[in-house]
Amino acid sequence: MTTQEEQTRSGLRFPTGFAFGAATSAYQIEGAVAEDGRGTSIWDTFTKTPGRVLNGHHGDVAMDHYHRFKEDVAIMADLGLTAYRFSVSWPRIQPTGSGAVNQKGLDFYRRLTDELLRHGIDPWLTLYHWDLPQALEDQGGWPNRDTAYRFAEYASAVHEALKDHVHTFSTVNEPWCAAFLGYASGEHAPGRREPQNAIRGAHHLNLAHGLAVQAMGARRVGGCVNLYAVTPATDSEADLDAARRIDGLQNRFFLDALLTGQYPQDVLDDLGMDPEVIQPGDMKTIGSPIDVLLVNYYSRFTVSGAPGGRASAAAAPTDSASPWVGSEHVSFVNGGRPVTAMGWEIDEGGLVEILTRVARDYPPIPMVVSENGAAFDDVLVDGRIHDRERQAYVEAHLGACKEAIEAGVPLEGYFAWSLMDNFEWAWGYGKRFGLVHVDFETQERLLKDSALWYSEIIRQNRRHEPTDS
Ligand code: FCB
Repeated sequence: MTTQEEQTRSGLRFPTGFAFGAATSAYQIEGAVAEDGRGTSIWDTFTKTPGRVLNGHHGDVAMDHYHRFKEDVAIMADLGLTAYRFSVSWPRIQPTGSGAVNQKGLDFYRRLTDELLRHGIDPWLTLYHWDLPQALEDQGGWPNRDTAYRFAEYASAVHEALKDHVHTFSTVNEPWCAAFLGYASGEHAPGRREPQNAIRGAHHLNLAHGLAVQAMGARRVGGCVNLYAVTPATDSEADLDAARRIDGLQNRFFLDALLTGQYPQDVLDDLGMDPEVIQPGDMKTIGSPIDVLLVNYYSRFTVSGAPGGRASAAAAPTDSASPWVGSEHVSFVNGGRPVTAMGWEIDEGGLVEILTRVARDYPPIPMVVSENGAAFDDVLVDGRIHDRERQAYVEAHLGACKEAIEAGVPLEGYFAWSLMDNFEWAWGYGKRFGLVHVDFETQERLLKDSALWYSEIIRQNRRHEPTDS
């Protein structure tokens, strides 16, 4: 028996049907920004604005996935992935964010999903992974309520075109990031630093989710949140309050809204939410039933209410303000754990904690871990990348998934972030999260050791599953 077989036998065996996936997003990999009628997105504009992205990097070519998707799907098939989570670029479908659809844009996702299905890989489609059409930003962006209605129309068009290809649609990836990094800290596009508008944006992103769920009707629909485990630095009153605030804004604000149709009152108070932003009926719309919750998990925050600490958990690559609207005094302290190349503390126990918490505190909802992974500084040695740290990270977090399942959490799958190295937002091409290495000059793909390991885990699990034939 090989070591990997032993590992599967001893620990990483999952229930039949558990999805083993990997995730990407449109702007991070597609490139082809001016092809087949694609419009401009806020990330095109942002990346071309000096000082916004490290080294002036942009996604014009990215991983050239738009042209190389067949090769990329073949890699997924080689790895044995059973599911693939990708996002649709809104400006490919509606170049100015509203009105007639661009058939060529839709055709790309038909070709992609055809190819996935041909290889027996289940396509998980995300409608919005942060690339808002610039024309909608010019009309106010997410702080403008109309954007939510435009999103529902877009969702409906994509759903109509792809519902025979795609089983699971999800709405907005990580609304916290889209609202608070986009409109409060300015670290992400569109790079505004307008705390009150970030709050409006957060509500409208939630509203967009709810309206899209309703517009898409009967298909399997999910919402996606990025959750963090949060610990107070000490049990002082100030630190306990800091933990309540950060947990509130990062986790409960979105979980409560999507799963119970309410915002937590303490978070509304922290934010000083203008009651007029929330219109009658909004919360019911936002709480529209969903079929699955997509949970992105990376790390734990240790927070303090005492002055003097860091304003965010890890260094930002560019000049930015606090995303913690109403709780700007909270600081992030070193929790003493090993960190990834992003400076994010590694804590798989936090994943067990948040999954069991959602299962315990909210109405029953199937879940998947829709993103989890780590950036490390990979080194190419004799044509191989021995990324032991990434492998250990994924292994530990898969172990956490297993533990959560054993504790009764209805967890149905795991998607590694990311299938391949890509454009990591404000960090440009400076951080590699892929299981697959990409040479940014030649576009050559190479499986890292972590990919080979993951593939073996999947193979071992599949071996024990009953087959149809
Ligand atoms: C998440 C994003 C994803 C990627 C990872 C590292 O917040 O959804 O696009 O950047 O972080």
